Amino acid sequence: MSSNGITPDAAPATGAAPVARPKTTGLHVGEAAPGVAKVDPIIIADGVRRSFGGVNAVDVDHLEVPRGAITALIGPNGAGKTTLFNLLTGFDKPDHGTWTFDGTSLSGVPAYKVARMGLVRTFQLTKALGLLTVMENMKLGAKNQRGEHFWASLIPALWKSQDAELEERAMQLLTKFKLDTKADDFAASLSGGQRKLLEMARSLMTEPTLVMLDEPMAGVNPALTQSLLDHILDLKDLGMTVLFVEHDMHMVRHIADWVVVMAEGRIVAEGAPDAVMKDPAVIDAYLGAHQELDLGVVTGRIDVIQADPTTDAAASAAAVAETLVDEGIAEETRDEAETAREEEEGR
Ligand SMILES: Nc1ncnc2c1ncn2[C@@H]1O[C@H](COP(=O)(O)OP(=O)(O)OP(=O)(O)O)[C@@H](O)[C@H]1O
Ligand SMILES: [Mg+2]
Repeated sequence: MSSNGITPDAAPATGAAPVARPKTTGLHVGEAAPGVAKVDPIIIADGVRRSFGGVNAVDVDHLEVPRGAITALIGPNGAGKTTLFNLLTGFDKPDHGTWTFDGTSLSGVPAYKVARMGLVRTFQLTKALGLLTVMENMKLGAKNQRGEHFWASLIPALWKSQDAELEERAMQLLTKFKLDTKADDFAASLSGGQRKLLEMARSLMTEPTLVMLDEPMAGVNPALTQSLLDHILDLKDLGMTVLFVEHDMHMVRHIADWVVVMAEGRIVAEGAPDAVMKDPAVIDAYLGAHQELDLGVVTGRIDVIQADPTTDAAASAAAVAETLVDEGIAEETRDEAETAREEEEGR
């Protein structure tokens, strides 16, 4: 990994054809099943449970997250994905259970310490601080700032040079995420998608070893989708481990090396993306009785036919619409001009 945690090369220009990057394989030991051991796990969780009232939000017997790979955590709404993220990162406390990160126990370690240890996460609902500028948000993401200590803060010479370094690193990251022109704007003025990018950029200020992203694509403008996918793939190329929650199965197939499926708090399946998506337990978890439907259609966001939304958004959207109509899930609507034109043509 480079010292500033970002790629030395500029990101490919928007519109450039995406280059397929190799998947990481050989991650597990033995048969792919819930709780399967990994060759080199970075997180190992045991008996992690969290209930709210009568609901077992998380009930994970054993989970290992493979190091240096991109793992997708998928599952229907309410499966417990965000709650598991909250527990692993110290934002919530479990009723039971233990887990380690890089061999160190994280049970009871508060979120800010977890981040300092190299495990950072983003939120499903962005938490960028609206009344701070984009640059100020970035600097908050950095760890071990000398000016943070009261006595040191009174001696500017101690922190001024560090502040300049931080600003430079922040600017490099903002440029990579195409937010550099917004550095002095309040975060509140950013679109939802830009705030997601800011959160991801900010998380990289800590130079993490494991990045956990909760629905990174949700609310992001389709024009930014490809670059976001590239950013995530870059993290792996830089040696980081990624664990992300996503409902968009196309994205999961495209970038994940490994997929963990949750339903009703439990891990119900694990495996390589293509295998997992054919797994009857997974289809059950998503579909209940409607097994004739594809996973992607049910999650409502993606196409499962031929079009690739990362390269051909229009064709993909049209194909999704067609599938929904064919399946009787949606009704076809047409605009008035189209109907009038067809009537004119005598159809
Ligand atoms: N703070 C809370 N108080 C009460 N119940 C909660 C709380 N947080 C989560 N839950 C419940 O726990 C279960 C798991 O929720 P969670 O948000 O983890 O699901 P999720 O898999 O992230 O879903 P989604 O895909 O919709 O984001 C749900 O039944 C939810 O209602
Ligand atoms: Mg969630």
